[in-house]
Amino acid sequence: MTKFLIISGSPRPGNTEFILKKIFAAIKSEKELILLRELNINRCKGCLSCDKSKKCVQQDDMQAIYPKARAADVLIIGTPNYFNNVSGLLKDFIDRTVPFFYEGEASALRGKKVFFIVVGGGEVENSQPVVEILQDFAQIHGIKTIGSHCFKAQNANDIAESPEISEEIKKIIKEIKS
Ligand SMILES: Cc1cc2nc3c(=O)[nH]c(=O)nc-3n(C[C@H](O)[C@H](O)[C@H](O)COP(=O)(O)O)c2cc1C
Repeated sequence: MTKFLIISGSPRPGNTEFILKKIFAAIKSEKELILLRELNINRCKGCLSCDKSKKCVQQDDMQAIYPKARAADVLIIGTPNYFNNVSGLLKDFIDRTVPFFYEGEASALRGKKVFFIVVGGGEVENSQPVVEILQDFAQIHGIKTIGSHCFKAQNANDIAESPEISEEIKKIIKEIKS
């Protein structure tokens, strides 16, 4: 059975989280939703001791995510567009995946799949740079990007229950399964 790990990089319970919770509910397989805003994930210190040990020296909530990322088949990562980049919360998470990078060819992330969700206050085309940043992250880890979807929403509750959103979620689920 395919294992899905869904990660929200928004610091607020807003649009990204709403969409990811809808995706979570629609997936009928093994799944877990991680809200980074609820966790204590320190910034990477850049010590690079993981180059040798393949482990991070920082004992925080990231330690519980490493085995979950190893076990997952498909990652679904969502972030708000912050200055045409990912949120700081998600960037800290991304930087803390560097121990996997030092596993090299044997990296546990290699061959996994990822789907990205980006929410920005501007037009959806404006969030494309964020998708590209995320695709680069995936590519560096040898993770295959299977798709992405950008939404336009500014205030926390702009994306809410609606037939249009249900349709978008259905399309995303189809893409993730294909
Ligand atoms: C610090 C900050 C920077 C932002 N930068 C952009 C931006 O460059 N482009 C954009 O379209 N929206 C930008 N926004 C708007 C957010 O992407 C928007 O509010 C989005 O709905 C946030 O998603 P969330 O509800 O999941 O947190 C920014 C918001 C904040 C707080």
